[in-house]
Amino acid sequence: MNNKKFYVTTPIYYATAAPHLGTLYSTLLADVAARWHKVQAIDTFFLTGTDEFGQKVAQAAQQAGKDPKSFVDQFIPAYKDLWKKYLIDYTHFIRTTDDYHVKAVQQWIADLQKKGDIYKGAYEGWYCTPCETFLTEKDFEVGTKNPLCTSCERPTGWVCEPCYFFKLSAYQDVLLQFFQDNPNFITPKERAAEVVSFVRSGLQDVSISRTTISWGVPFPGDEKHVTYVWADALNNYITGVGYGQEGKQADFKKWWPADMQVLGKDIVRFHAVYWPAFLMASGLPLPKQLLVHGWIKMGDYKMSKSRGNSIDPQNLLQSYGADAVRYYLTRQLAITQDGQFSIEDLEQKISSDLANDLGNLLQRTESLALKYDAATLTAPQTWSNTSQALYQASLTMIEQFEKEMERGYFHSALNHVWKFLHESNAYFHNQEPWKLIKTDKAGFLEIISATVHALKTAGILLWPVMPAKMESLFERIGYQFELGKDQVALCKIPWKNTFMLTGGNPLFEKPEEKKETVAPEVTQPVVNYIGIEDLAKVELTVGTIIDCQSIPESDKLLKLSVDLGEAQPRCILSGVKSSYSPEQLIGKQGVFVTNLKPRMMLKKYESQGMMLFVKNQDGQMIFATTEKEVPNGNKLQ
Ligand code: MSP
Repeated sequence: MNNKKFYVTTPIYYATAAPHLGTLYSTLLADVAARWHKVQAIDTFFLTGTDEFGQKVAQAAQQAGKDPKSFVDQFIPAYKDLWKKYLIDYTHFIRTTDDYHVKAVQQWIADLQKKGDIYKGAYEGWYCTPCETFLTEKDFEVGTKNPLCTSCERPTGWVCEPCYFFKLSAYQDVLLQFFQDNPNFITPKERAAEVVSFVRSGLQDVSISRTTISWGVPFPGDEKHVTYVWADALNNYITGVGYGQEGKQADFKKWWPADMQVLGKDIVRFHAVYWPAFLMASGLPLPKQLLVHGWIKMGDYKMSKSRGNSIDPQNLLQSYGADAVRYYLTRQLAITQDGQFSIEDLEQKISSDLANDLGNLLQRTESLALKYDAATLTAPQTWSNTSQALYQASLTMIEQFEKEMERGYFHSALNHVWKFLHESNAYFHNQEPWKLIKTDKAGFLEIISATVHALKTAGILLWPVMPAKMESLFERIGYQFELGKDQVALCKIPWKNTFMLTGGNPLFEKPEEKKETVAPEVTQPVVNYIGIEDLAKVELTVGTIIDCQSIPESDKLLKLSVDLGEAQPRCILSGVKSSYSPEQLIGKQGVFVTNLKPRMMLKKYESQGMMLFVKNQDGQMIFATTEKEVPNGNKLQ
C-alpha cells in the first residue's frame, strides 16, 4: 500500500424519499474519486449517509402519519440497496440520528460556546422549509410578502424565534484570505467566484438552533432548542471519521481533513462558507477540495422527486446495467455545468462508445487470436515503431488522465481514454492482422499483444467508472487485477505482460439489439389533491389586454392594462418580457386570477392580479386563453 491517504465525502441526503438519479450522481462522483485512489493502492475512506433531522423531515413524517424516526428508517434500505446495485463502494454510511454523531455535535456546540463563537439572540426572517434556510437581505425586495426561495423558487414563510447564533461575521476576512491562498479549494472556478463575491458582500451571523421544532439534536444546556440542521449536518464529515468519539482519535487524525468533498451547486454556500468557518472556529484544518457539480435536468428543471420529473435509477439498472449508467453520468455530464439526461443519448453512447469503441475492439482482437491459436500471448522482445508509438500514446493518455482526475474533471479524463481507444482501433485496423497472419505470424502476434496491452491500460483507467465490466475484461484477457498494487504505475512500465485470452460474449450489448428492453419509466408526479372547495377559492376571469408597456427597471416584467369587464381596467404585472414584446400582447384575450391579493412590485407598481401562462418545450411562456372569444369578465368554471 502507498502511504498516502484519500478521504472523500458525499452530501448526506434528506431521508424523506428513496434516492433518485440526482442523488446517485453526487454519490457516483465520490465513488469514482474513491476508486481512482484505490486503483493506485492509496488507502481510501469514502463517507456517505443521510440527513435525518429538521423541519423538512418532521413535516414529511407528519404527512405520512409516522413518527420521524420510523419515517426515516424506512428509506435507509432503499439507499443501501441502490448504492450496492450501482457498485458504490462506501466505507461508512452515517445517519445523523446515530448516537455517536448526536453526542459529538453536542460536544462541538458546547466547545464553541465556551470559545464565544456561539451566542444567544433572536431571529426573524423569511425561511424556506424545503431548503432549511433563511433568505438573506440580498435575496428579496424589501416589502415582498413570502418572497420566493432563491434556490428552489418556492414561497418562504416568516419565522420569529429566540435562537443561538454562530458568529459567522467574524470569519469574513479569514475566509477571503483562505480563498485567496487556496485557489483550488472550490472546483470549478466559476463556483469559486460566486462564493467569493457572496462573502465580500458581507456575512451575517447564522442561526444554529430552533425552538419551533423538536426533531433535532437537543441543544446542549438549553432543552427548549434543537440544533438547526446545517450545524448538525455539516459536522457529519468529521463525526463520520471519529471526531468527538472516545477511542477514535487516531482514526480522526488519520482521515481528517477530507481530500475531496462532492456536492451539488445548490449547497455550495453552506459548504464553502459556513463549513470552513465552523472548522476554523474549532481549530480544525479545512478540506482540501470541494467538487461542486451542476444539476441533472429534465427539460427546464432540476430533476427531483418533488417536481415529479425524476427517473428511477432502479429502472435504468434493469435496462442498461450499472456500469453503462455510471459511464454515461460521468462522461456525459460535465461537472462544470448542468446537464440534460436523455434515454436516447444514453443508448447512443452505449452503442458507440461502449459496444463499438471498447467492446468491439476486445471482441475482434480476441476472436482473431483464438482463430489462429494465439490464446496465450507473450509480449515480443522488441516492438515495431508503430507499436512503440501506441505505447507512447498510452503514456501521454495516462498523464492527461491523471491531471484531469486530480482536479475532479472526470468527464475530461474519460475523453482522453476515448481518444486513445480511437488510436488503438486505428492501430489494429490499419495493420490488418487478419491478412498479416498469412505472411508474418510474429507480426500478427505483436499486433494482438499490443492491442490487448492497450485494452488493459484503458481498462485500468476505466475501472473507477465501470468496475464490474472492467473486471470482466481483465478476466477475459487473463490479467491478474489486484487492488493492493498501484495498477496505474504498472501500466506505465514498458509493455511485457503475458495474456491468456478466453473469448466470450460482447462486453456491452447494444440497446437496439437487445431482445427485451424494459423502457425506464419517468416517475409519476406526486399529486397533492385539493378539494373542490379549494378550487372555488380561485377566481379565474377572462380579460383583454388593452395596453402593455415594458418596465425599464426590470428585465422580466411587463405592465399590462387589462379589461376584465369592470369599471376600470386593472394593472397587472407579468414576468414574461423574455417571451413577448408589449406589441405582441396588446389586444389579446387571456385568463387572469382576479382575486389574488394586490401586491406592490418594484416599490411603485401595484399588481392587481395574475395572468396565466404555460411554458412550451423551449421554455418560452405561452399565455392561456379560451377556445373562442368570450365577453371580458366571464368567469372560468
Ligand atoms: N441534506 C442536504 C445536504 C447536507 S450535506 C451536509 C441536502 N440533501 S439533498 O438530498 O437535497 O441533496 C443532496 C445532494 O444531491 C445535493 O448535492 C444536490 O445537489 C444533489 N442533487 C439533488 N438533485 C440533483 C439533481 N437533479 N442533479 C444533480 N444533483 C442533485 O441538500
